[in-house]
Amino acid sequence: MPLLGVNIDHIATLRQQRRAPYPDLVLAARACENAGADSIVAHLREDRRHIQDADVFALRKHVTTRFNLEMALSSDIVRIACRLKPDQVTLVPERRQELTTEGGLDVVRNARRIAAAARRFKKRNIGVSLFIEPSELQVKAAGDIGIGIVELHTGAYAESSSLGQRRMRLKELREACAVAGALGLVVNAGHGLDYENVCPVASMAQVHELNIGYAIVCHSLFVGLEQAVRQMKALAKGSRRIRGGA
Ligand code: PXP
Repeated sequence: MPLLGVNIDHIATLRQQRRAPYPDLVLAARACENAGADSIVAHLREDRRHIQDADVFALRKHVTTRFNLEMALSSDIVRIACRLKPDQVTLVPERRQELTTEGGLDVVRNARRIAAAARRFKKRNIGVSLFIEPSELQVKAAGDIGIGIVELHTGAYAESSSLGQRRMRLKELREACAVAGALGLVVNAGHGLDYENVCPVASMAQVHELNIGYAIVCHSLFVGLEQAVRQMKALAKGSRRIRGGA
C-alpha cells in the first residue's frame, strides 16, 4: 500500500486570492496528518503564486510527519531549501506562465546541474527526488547520477482521453516502475491523480508514495479536509472508488 503525501499548495492559492491570514496552512497540514497523510508537500514557486517563504518555514517547524518541498533548480530557491532543511526536496521543472507543473525534469540534459544541487542537499541530510516523465531514459539518467528517489509524472495518464490511451499510459508507468525498481530507486508518483483514477497507480507494487493535491483540496470543500484525506488514503489502500469524488 503506498504512502500518501498531501500537497497543500492550493490551500495557499485560496488564501493568496485575498492576501488574508487564512486558511492557515499549518492548521491544514495538521488536519491532513490527523487524517493519515504520511507527508506534507508544498511547492515554493519562483513567482510565489501560492506558497510563500514564511509558509515553508512554518511548515518545517510544525509538520510532524515528513515535509517534502517541491522546487525548481533556481539558485535562490536552492539557497532557501538549504537553510530550511526539509526532509526531502522534489526537483521539478518550472515555467512562469504554466498553470501547474507541466512536464517532468529533463535529467539527461540537466544532469550536471542536478547532481551539483543534489550534492548540496545530501550534505545537509535532505533526501532528493526527481519529478520525471515515466521514460526509461529519464529513470536511468536519475540512477546514473545517484539520485535515490524518482517521482513519476502521472499527468499524461490522468489526462488520457480514451481507454486505449489510458492503458498505454499505465503501461509506460509500469515499465518505468520496473526499470526504477531494478536500479534500486524508490518510486513515487503524482500529478493529476484523483478519486476516480488513483487506484491503478496505487496498485503498482513499486509505488512507494503518491503525491496528491488538487483533487483532495477540491473534495475537501464538500467533505472537509480530514475526510478528503481519509477517503484518498482508503483508495490508496485499495478500497472501492469513491463515487462523486472531485
Ligand atoms: N507531484 C508534483 C511533483 C507536482 O508538481 C504536483 C503539483 O504541484 C503534484 C505532485 C500534485 O499534483 P496535483 O495537484 O495535480 O494532485
